[in-house]
Amino acid sequence: MAKIIVQGGVPLRGTLRVQGSKNAALPILAACVLVSGVCELENCPDLSDVCAAVRILRHLGCVVTRAGDRLTVDARAVIRAAIPDDLMREMRSSIVFLGSVLARTGRASLCTPGGCDIGMRPIDLHLSSLYALGARIHTENGALRCFAPGGLCGTELCLPFPSVGATENILLASATAKGTTLLRGAAREPEIDDLICFLNACGARIRTTGAGTILITGVPALHGCRHRVIPDRIAAVTYMTAVGTAGGDVTLTDTAPAHYLSVIRVLERAGCRIAFENDRLRIQSEGRLCAVPRIRTLPYPGFPTDAQAAVMALLATAKGVSVIEETIFENRFHHVRALRRMGADIAVNGRTARVKGVRRLRGAAVAAGDLRAGAALIVAGLGADGETVIDDVHHIDRGYEKIEACLQTLGARIERSADSGSTEPEQQYPLRLVPLQRG
Ligand code: EPZ
Repeated sequence: MAKIIVQGGVPLRGTLRVQGSKNAALPILAACVLVSGVCELENCPDLSDVCAAVRILRHLGCVVTRAGDRLTVDARAVIRAAIPDDLMREMRSSIVFLGSVLARTGRASLCTPGGCDIGMRPIDLHLSSLYALGARIHTENGALRCFAPGGLCGTELCLPFPSVGATENILLASATAKGTTLLRGAAREPEIDDLICFLNACGARIRTTGAGTILITGVPALHGCRHRVIPDRIAAVTYMTAVGTAGGDVTLTDTAPAHYLSVIRVLERAGCRIAFENDRLRIQSEGRLCAVPRIRTLPYPGFPTDAQAAVMALLATAKGVSVIEETIFENRFHHVRALRRMGADIAVNGRTARVKGVRRLRGAAVAAGDLRAGAALIVAGLGADGETVIDDVHHIDRGYEKIEACLQTLGARIERSADSGSTEPEQQYPLRLVPLQRG
């Protein structure tokens, strides 16, 4: 199992182009199933989750080719409506294919994605919305069999929670439905706007009011288009926390600061100097940062849950006490155990973490618990004394394109070792006897 090895204590300097957005590319790839034509997607990041989505598209009958950051999807010959469990289980967000496969073929068979490291991840809002649009859904032993023989029909929907995935499935299912769908309580993430922009470029008729209301007027068919995926806002804030933690002066390019203003405000309050204009953002940090008394993760435009782990890694060495409340997922503190191993003073009580900043973290052998937790350990290692070895880096590769190469261009001492075997980090490295951090 590959590992990432970080030598801490080196300030980051230079310019880094931010990758395309994983969470925009995935629903747009699923939307290609709706299009009986050819779509060209530019700025598509080369990630394992994107590869998983491509495997599903090919299984369904699409022809998909990649040239650099451009993916070309020819969905004229979609012939299947069933996605095998092994493909579904590679990436739990594959549930977003349900809406497009059902709309295109009139049926869909796939397994429920199930929970993951960060929570139960129910799909009740997806299923109830599709049912309201005319789908008939049978669930049995984790299998979903969906039918819409007479096609899907527009209706009025109101989500009790602005679920990103449910909003995406509703958009995909209603874009070519008969009649009009009025959706209230929709998610407002930038990735939703990008999906709408793609669908409208394919001939859909979708309007948003900005207050979580979306009007979808069904059209008979969609045609191919060329679309550029928005920049990845979570990758951007991850690199910003790396600079905040290690110190330095970095300019991010091909980024969209307006998509992560809530994180910019937090990092400014911690003491980072940030300036941005158009698609460039400069962040400078020197000396010890300050704690941020209270952070709550919220649906967009609130503070994003996906930035919580990396910002916690940054605050682990900030002066003072920061309190982070995770309101979106019920189990999203996997990074705490590893940060404690590195000397962090973090107490968790339910969905709230109390982070008392220590002067420095120390390198340790740790393991990535999930995608964002793994990236947070790299951030922590960049500011720590000594060497940090991160195992299970496959989690990180799901969402960060060549993360060690990106950080190397900024002067970080970081490398990937293709280590054989995957024993627990504790067994590989002599345990350092350290005082137990009482959580
Ligand atoms: C998307 O997940 C993102 N994934 C997540 O990013 C992100 O953290 C999340 O939105 C919130 O912003 C992708 O876009 C691929 P949700 P999704 O539906 O769609 C409840 C990352 O690290 N819920 O908004 O699964 C449930 O409790 C990933 O890139 C229901 O109750 O998020 C869940 O905890 C992690 N019933 C909460 O909403 C439902 O039917 C948020 O879920 C659906 C959701």
